[in-house]
Amino acid sequence: MAITGIKGFNDILPGEVEKWQHIEATARRVFELYGFAEIRVPIMEKTELFARSIGDATDIVEKEMYSFTDKGENQVTLRPEGTASVMRAFIEHKLYANDPVAKLYYLGPMFRYERPQKGRYRQFHQIGAEVTGVTDPKVDAQLLTMLCHFFDELGLTEPTLQINSLGCPECRPIYRQVLKEFLRAKLELLCDDCKRRFETNPLRALDCKSTGCQEATKEAPSVLDHLCAGCADHFARVRGYLETVGTGYSINPRMVRGLDYYTRTTFELVTGLLGSQSAVAAGGRYDGLIAELGGPALPGIGFAMGVERVALLLAEQEFKKRPDLFIAALGEPAQAEAFRLMTGLQRQGVSVEIDYEGKSLKSQLRRSDKFDARFTLIIGEDELAKGRGALKNMDQGSQEEVPLTSDAVVQRLKI
Ligand code: HAM
Repeated sequence: MAITGIKGFNDILPGEVEKWQHIEATARRVFELYGFAEIRVPIMEKTELFARSIGDATDIVEKEMYSFTDKGENQVTLRPEGTASVMRAFIEHKLYANDPVAKLYYLGPMFRYERPQKGRYRQFHQIGAEVTGVTDPKVDAQLLTMLCHFFDELGLTEPTLQINSLGCPECRPIYRQVLKEFLRAKLELLCDDCKRRFETNPLRALDCKSTGCQEATKEAPSVLDHLCAGCADHFARVRGYLETVGTGYSINPRMVRGLDYYTRTTFELVTGLLGSQSAVAAGGRYDGLIAELGGPALPGIGFAMGVERVALLLAEQEFKKRPDLFIAALGEPAQAEAFRLMTGLQRQGVSVEIDYEGKSLKSQLRRSDKFDARFTLIIGEDELAKGRGALKNMDQGSQEEVPLTSDAVVQRLKI
């Protein structure tokens, strides 16, 4: 029996991969406009890094990590997200030494042991961006604007921006206490998960999907009414800057992120088109994380998008690449000529396909159609003798003779 891949780990095949390349190229182009540089970090880290940054009481660390002991007895984990690794590298290589402001982006696979379904996988891919060293709300607004710019470039209007503020170590504990008092009377309504994390993480009940939790939190106090003066002012200024540049948003005071490192601004780009996997991108500020990981006391903010989810939103669009030219050749000498011409043209930057098996002209033309080549060049015995082939423009249906040299063919293809 043939061996299959692992559940929740997907192949990205030709035909689909062109869409991924388009998403990645668009991200690189847009992010670099805003001054971001790429960073590549390993896909495996010490388990401790994720436990300390994402938080011991989160679903990711409690239940979803691919962790194991390697042959050297080290506790290691396949990264469930990118922020922790990027900040670990930022600290380890002292990237802050010359300038505390670093703008970094990354792309690659992440791993979480979740129940696979449409838009949710065990190996999935993120494109993320992080900015260190700036507390000013202009950077929050710029990062969100860049993210929306990226979606505009893809022609996607669907994911819409929701923002919230989760406060800071001064005001969040007060809100937590207020929320706990509120929920205590309704504890029976909460789902088992939220009951269990009532002490450690009561905020999770606010965005829990279970009907009991939704009922229990209907009238819950809002985090935004409990921000300290500094956090309230920061949030108001983020909103002001978003409005200045025309980046649309709505406020969702029930947004609670599933990672513990967030402070102040948090956000999600949400869509109604992917069922329960509604977050296409998400992130926020993490002003305490760098110090928590043993680095200097610098603030940070970032986001990551799920590439699979972006690709699903682009489902209707066709990204297949068309070859510039298909050469149909009849008979052994013409086929040798086609092979020589193809190689010369490829060196000149033209994408060319041929038929390798010397099939009939009809079947070669069928193959050209299948490739959807822009041009077809036919070389039979007569054409070979004349040194001129018949070049057909497949979109316009027009045909002309062309000398069988790569320079001449390149000239004709330039239209
Ligand atoms: P996150 O919300 O856990 O945040 O993930 C970000 C995005 O990754 C989600 O909105 C979703 O699109 C995608 N994603 C997450 N899990 C899966 C999955 N199992 N299958 C498919 N897609 C998934 C973070 O990871 C933070 N590191 C974001 C961040 C960067 N915050 C600050 N900087």
